[in-house]
Amino acid sequence: MYTVPQLDDYSQESLEKAFAELRAAFDSEAQAPLDAGWKTFRDRWLGRTNGILTQVNEQWLKAAPAEGKREVGRRLNDAKDEIGRRVDELKVEHRDVVVAVTGVQARASFGSPSVSGTHNLDVTLPGIRRPLGTEHPVIRTMNEIVAVFRAMGYSIGEGPEIESDYYNFEALNFPPNHPARDSQDTLFVAGQEQKPARERLLLRTHTSPVQIRTMEKQPPPVRIVIPGKVYRHDTPDASHSPLFHQVEGLAVDTGITFSDLKGTLDHAMKALFGSSVKTRFFPSFFPFTEPSADVAVTCFKCNGKGCRLCKQSGWIELLGSGMVDPAVFGFVKKNGYDPEKVSGFAFGMGVDRIAMMKYEIDDISLLFQGDVRFLEQFA
Ligand code: PHE
Repeated sequence: MYTVPQLDDYSQESLEKAFAELRAAFDSEAQAPLDAGWKTFRDRWLGRTNGILTQVNEQWLKAAPAEGKREVGRRLNDAKDEIGRRVDELKVEHRDVVVAVTGVQARASFGSPSVSGTHNLDVTLPGIRRPLGTEHPVIRTMNEIVAVFRAMGYSIGEGPEIESDYYNFEALNFPPNHPARDSQDTLFVAGQEQKPARERLLLRTHTSPVQIRTMEKQPPPVRIVIPGKVYRHDTPDASHSPLFHQVEGLAVDTGITFSDLKGTLDHAMKALFGSSVKTRFFPSFFPFTEPSADVAVTCFKCNGKGCRLCKQSGWIELLGSGMVDPAVFGFVKKNGYDPEKVSGFAFGMGVDRIAMMKYEIDDISLLFQGDVRFLEQFA
């Protein structure tokens, strides 16, 4: 390592030699990798209080005899100019090297000592590939369903996953203690015994409460799809999970009939599963729709012939649906939903089930374990 020597001889030759050594020392350090980082290197040479050029100023220039001052000053200024310029250049080169070494690995900041050396860069090493990310099969399926309805002019709605009894049940025409509540094993938030029943919080068991929230926010007409997570107190098995996903739909306007419901869902199923798919509507019950229908599609694996997927029936049940019960409009009447004037339909489908059938996944828990070996199949 270069240190600034004492200078007693101020002859031309001696000055020439001293400055040449100074430059040679700088050049050789500037060529080596800047292992300690560019800043350390800059401070060593240009640092204001104790940099080498400051030392030269103190030891050579200030100590110079009067007649030698001019010459030392001139040489020192030249050295300052050149060294300063070269240090600036090195900053850019050094940064490029660091970027080249760390660009793919994203593990070091500029000037980090561990990777800053040009000699550490082996351009023949294979690059580091980042695994490609991809949409989760449930999210992908959900987006596909939503896209089908968006193309029909529906907008997207959202609501909270922690819901009150009022929105999840009461305003959907499940009266307190009505047995229909048993069909949705509910996870309640603990410690709310003091609250009035309708204010008690629970994890929403379906996306239907967002029907009410939407109608409270906007007058008719409404055309909305509501994708989201729902929760039920189900014991996990191959087809049950306490968390799953639904896409809800609601259309309210004047003169909406059951044929609109049938036409809309038939089109949506064809758009999702292919134009040869047929739909079948059969009677069902939901407190918030009247009449209600469950909707099945011809099995998209066997085309209706009967196979393991459709349990030999040729049909797969995918949706709950129905005409909005006038009693439900009764809860939002003051927002413009007069059951004498408007009518509508609603539907809801389980996204996870659809994703499982589409991708032939036989255990729902695989969807929520986050195992990359499973998920990367969908990349
Ligand atoms: N919310 C119902 C369920 O989760 C599905 C449904 C939605 C039925 C809309 C009719 C209308 O089972």
